[in-house]
Amino acid sequence: MTTSELAVDATGLVKIFGANRAVDGVDLSVRAGTVYGVLGPNGAGKTTTISMLATLLRPDAGSARIFGHDVQKEAGVVRQLIGVTGQYASVDESLSATENLVLFGRLLGLSGRDAKRTANDLLEEFSLTDAARRPLKKFSGGMRRRLDLAASLISRPPLIFLDEPTTGLDPRTRNQMWDTIRRLVAEGSTVLLTTQYLDEADQLADRIAVIDTGRVVAEGTANQLKASVGTTALQVRLVDDADAESAVRTMRDVLGSHNEPVAQGDAISVPMADADRVTDLLLELRNRGIHLAEMSVQKPTLDEVFLAITGHAAEPAADELEGAHA
Ligand SMILES: Nc1ncnc2c1ncn2[C@@H]1O[C@H](COP(=O)(O)OP(=O)(O)OP(=O)(O)O)[C@@H](O)[C@H]1O
Ligand SMILES: [Mg+2]
Repeated sequence: MTTSELAVDATGLVKIFGANRAVDGVDLSVRAGTVYGVLGPNGAGKTTTISMLATLLRPDAGSARIFGHDVQKEAGVVRQLIGVTGQYASVDESLSATENLVLFGRLLGLSGRDAKRTANDLLEEFSLTDAARRPLKKFSGGMRRRLDLAASLISRPPLIFLDEPTTGLDPRTRNQMWDTIRRLVAEGSTVLLTTQYLDEADQLADRIAVIDTGRVVAEGTANQLKASVGTTALQVRLVDDADAESAVRTMRDVLGSHNEPVAQGDAISVPMADADRVTDLLLELRNRGIHLAEMSVQKPTLDEVFLAITGHAAEPAADELEGAHA
């Protein structure tokens, strides 16, 4: 793969805060024109990693290139190629949405007329036209998030960093954000986003890096990651509890011995490495006269992915726990 095909090419990135190796040797390769998800719990090092890639923080070791340009030696060029959200804490709360976007446009060197036109186009694109004149302090969290993304798109950067773009958004607003991200990529942008939600990475990302305590602990497509934790689990509740033993026997017969059923109260849960086998299992249960009161298919949660990959739960870093002692 040539360097120009890589929007991000980072090797051995390290960032140390005091005694805390917040980012501890991260490698990342993001192909141009794709969505890349960095998935990890609070304190994993996601924001710190993005900040180094976006030239906002100097790495203590390692190197990174954005479309072939070194983030340290060519920071000016790199800044022209990227948009970063979550960095607009300095927007003026008393200014309206339009005024804020125009201000950013002017700061980026657009003429007054171009800045105004770009602001209006972006407000339209992000369904904020109705709120365009409202001062920012009256915006909801979801509106702020959309305005934040709009501001990062004024210069139409080829690479967009989105730091937890949907954390705290309601489901409808989250879906709108996902649509926007998909549209950006369809138009040729590359997106690197961080998230705490497996589901979000699953929906959007072509590839995912799972990071934990500053290290990449797994990398691959969503399907590869899920396969590594045993994909889905099938859960059933029986009409007649007396069938429990024969239900478990049926599961073993159909699925083989490496998918061991677990009784949980009056329900039985069994991991399904191959979702295709669900049908076989349900048919066989019926053949044997075992009737189901309820059945559901459960996807692994981020916690389960973490547990499977790291051997511990996705807990915040120790220094983020109130009252924790190092
Ligand atoms: N400026 C800083 N000074 C000192 N420590 C920092 C600083 N920024 C981050 N850290 C620490 O570095 C670690 C990684 O933080 P980071 O913000 O990158 O995590 P994150 O994955 O983005 O978490 P979250 O999901 O909560 O946003 C944490 O232990 C955090 O406390
Ligand atoms: Mg963060």
